Amino acid sequence: MHPDLINLENTFQASVLTKIDDPLLTEFSIELWMKRDDLLHPIISGNKWRKLKYCLHHALSLNADTIISMGGAYSNHLHALAYTGKLLGLKTQGFIRGEQSSVLTPTLMDMQDWGMELTFISRSEYRTLRQYKDPQGLPDIKPNQYWLPEGGAQLLALKGVAELVNEIDVSYDILCVPCGTGTTLAGMIDAAPQRVTLLGFAALKHAEFLATDVKALLAKPSNQWDINLNYHLGGFAKTTEELIRFMNDFENKAGILLEPVYTGKMMFALYDLIKNNIFKPGQRIIAIHTGGLQGNRGFNV
Ligand SMILES: Cc1ncc(COP(=O)(O)O)c(C=O)c1O
Repeated sequence: MHPDLINLENTFQASVLTKIDDPLLTEFSIELWMKRDDLLHPIISGNKWRKLKYCLHHALSLNADTIISMGGAYSNHLHALAYTGKLLGLKTQGFIRGEQSSVLTPTLMDMQDWGMELTFISRSEYRTLRQYKDPQGLPDIKPNQYWLPEGGAQLLALKGVAELVNEIDVSYDILCVPCGTGTTLAGMIDAAPQRVTLLGFAALKHAEFLATDVKALLAKPSNQWDINLNYHLGGFAKTTEELIRFMNDFENKAGILLEPVYTGKMMFALYDLIKNNIFKPGQRIIAIHTGGLQGNRGFNV
């Protein structure tokens, strides 16, 4: 590992496992734990660091000095990349989906302050960029530049995600994670013990493509996983009063802050599935808190 990345990671906090104390879980004889990847770092939090780590190592080993990527106006991935780039002395460039509005979102403002060069592109240009997956695959890319696809969805990302799974030192039956591109889930499937079932929860509507994308990323075929498509609650980043009520209630009970795009929806889904007796009594579930709390600035939560 590149020494700059080791030094950076040495400043991180531990991602602890927290058992959720809730009478409802006792009533259904389910043990629910959260792996607190949100605690790793206030900005480079959650699955962001897991996915970035080995990609950045690759970029540094190729002597790249500029990392280019893409995302939306509230992108946790670009936000974490911009800050990491600043800390590592790397230049960063972000292609942002949609036209620039007169006021930047707080996420974009941070990214600009941390030195990321922002380029706003149309939705069709954005869709075109999605097809480029390899670090040198972007048209006209220069040898000193390194391309990271949307959400950091690159094969090397899986290696960092595997570390998250390997840190879990208790036995468990089910491992859950929210899905955007499905990269984090794929890394977890590759790394999880054989008798564990992995459950992904799609943050997007019409996410039927996810299963194919996840399958394509896997190092070896597996049938111990599933993706639940039923809890997008209207679509990506859409919220409902019920979701916000659930999140507030969970935060009061467990003392763990959620965000409504990824981990909030996954926890909402898990509680709903538990109440519907989908899990067997006595099962231990571990849910990954994938961070992204900076995104809360875009919501009234
Ligand atoms: C906070 C958070 N959780 C989960 C995800 C989903 O991760 P993946 O794209 O690897 O499925 C993202 C998006 O990358 C995210 O920002």
